[in-house]
Amino acid sequence: MDAQANLPQHVKIVEVGPRDGLQNEQQTIPAAVKVELIDRLGRAGFANIEAASFVSPKWVPQMATSAEVMAAIERRAGVIYSALTPNMQGFDAALAAGAGEVVIFGSASEAFSQKNINCSIAESIARFEGVAQAARERGLRLRGSISCAFGCPYQGEVPLHAVADVVGRMRELGCDEIDIADTIGVATPRKTQAVMLRAAQEFDLKRLSGHFHDTYGQALANIYASLEVGIAIFHSSVSGLGGCPYAKGATGNVATEDVLYLMQGLGIDTGIDLDIVVDAGQFISQHLGRKGASRAGNAIAAKRAG
Ligand code: HMG
Ligand code: MG
Repeated sequence: MDAQANLPQHVKIVEVGPRDGLQNEQQTIPAAVKVELIDRLGRAGFANIEAASFVSPKWVPQMATSAEVMAAIERRAGVIYSALTPNMQGFDAALAAGAGEVVIFGSASEAFSQKNINCSIAESIARFEGVAQAARERGLRLRGSISCAFGCPYQGEVPLHAVADVVGRMRELGCDEIDIADTIGVATPRKTQAVMLRAAQEFDLKRLSGHFHDTYGQALANIYASLEVGIAIFHSSVSGLGGCPYAKGATGNVATEDVLYLMQGLGIDTGIDLDIVVDAGQFISQHLGRKGASRAGNAIAAKRAG
């Protein structure tokens, strides 16, 4: 049996460290450090970098410098710089900042929706309608992110139909891509496949992405399980940065270096230079004053140090 034949040959990795990763850091990170991180990641070859978040600075203070960051980054041809936009205020700021993609972020869990964006799922979709229409009119890509698709820190179980329902609503809003997110990192491989296959009944499988956090050490297994059902877009965070301010105890996103090492081993093309990502991981870890959370990144750095 040729198992490899069933896996995608090319995978898109969306680097979310500068936003999903850094948003959770308690210490204020200077805009210049964020800019350098994004520029280093740009040089590594990512086609999409989540660089900013235009949310209330009272809710997520770390992202308050997003406009400053977007103004200072080196814009590389072919790279899409994305920004989170919960409402029209966020959209206007993202447009002014030159974001190439805006991200509306909802939830498959009512409880999480209330905690994260202070409204019900239905209210959030109504808010997103204006953002979606404005994105269409301005020719910006629109991405929909669905938090807590595998479990919720407040309500526990999240049924498949709840995920499918939000995927369907985001499709109707005209999303180019929809992220199925394991915000608290509780998914396991079979569950991952069940959720992805159910989501794919509502939206083109090739435009669904897997956004995994590694709280229970399952993220790489879940990515492999997703590849097996044909998912070919994944989110990851350099050096495993991250967590979510509204999901206590959730650790970072799966580390980009680990995902790239996996893809290299599987012979799957990503177009990204792992060595440059390792350097970027070392850079941000040094700034944060702690060892990075990427196993592959640390192993490669140790080998280099020889
Ligand atoms: P609200 O308080 O319900 O909104 O917040 P409001 O419309 O009543 O406005 C209240 C104040 O916020 C006003 O200011 C607005 O101007 C301001 P005030 O008059 O009090 O001075 N405001 C804004 N300021 C800047 N930018 C904006 C904006 N909107 C309102 N866009 C809101 C609603 C959604 C804004 C708020 O709940 C919020 O900002 N939440 C942030 C949520 C967030 O960023 N969470 C983390 C990202 S999600 C995530 O990480 C998960 C994900 O990675 C996937 C995964 O891992 O699962 C995507
Ligand atoms: Mg996340």
